[in-house]
Amino acid sequence: MREGTRDGSLKQRIRLATKEDIDALLNLEKICFKEETFPRRQLQYLLLKARSMVLVTEIDGNIIGSMIILLRKNILNARIYSLNVHPEHRRKGIAGSLMDTAFDILEEKGYKKITLEVGINNQAAQNLYKSKGFIVDKKLSDYYTNGDDALHLTRKL
Ligand SMILES: CC(C)(COP(=O)(O)OP(=O)(O)OC[C@H]1O[C@@H](n2cnc3c(N)ncnc32)[C@H](O)[C@@H]1OP(=O)(O)O)[C@@H](O)C(=O)NCCC(=O)NCCS
Repeated sequence: MREGTRDGSLKQRIRLATKEDIDALLNLEKICFKEETFPRRQLQYLLLKARSMVLVTEIDGNIIGSMIILLRKNILNARIYSLNVHPEHRRKGIAGSLMDTAFDILEEKGYKKITLEVGINNQAAQNLYKSKGFIVDKKLSDYYTNGDDALHLTRKL
């Protein structure tokens, strides 16, 4: 679907995920989020049945980045549900490229807006989203199971 990175030194490939990717996706989830990970069945559902779009980034055939986007019937708003990059591959533009790819696909499909929630203490992700044009529209108190607050962000497509 898309190859290369911002400095051209890494051979990354971004593509839509398939059901064969489930183990690699679960593994990446576990590495990125030690506390809350998706149960296999939920991920299976997102990959196969739900109105969702799952993008992965591969380097040398290994999945090192993933992004899950939820879509709803007849509603032109998309929601980023999950975004992970393997710790060894961070700060190389992997998440940024996944987002750019998602924006292109969603724009082409006619989507008008994209939203997401980010932990109030997740400065890395907040910086990323800000650099991609998202703006904070509200604070969500007690959003996560550990009691942490979140920010709700939006971006026009
Ligand atoms: C947040 C995350 C997805 C970023 O992935 P990434 O591939 O490293 O991000 P990029 O390299 O595309 O970074 C783009 C910009 O985001 C910001 N950013 C990313 N990581 C950052 C960090 N650790 N500290 C500060 N800013 C950061 C920077 O502005 C960066 O641009 P720069 O490198 O030119 O300064 C990754 O750290 C991750 O998987 N974290 C754990 C899971 C998570 O928190 N997901 C988001 C849930 S809402």
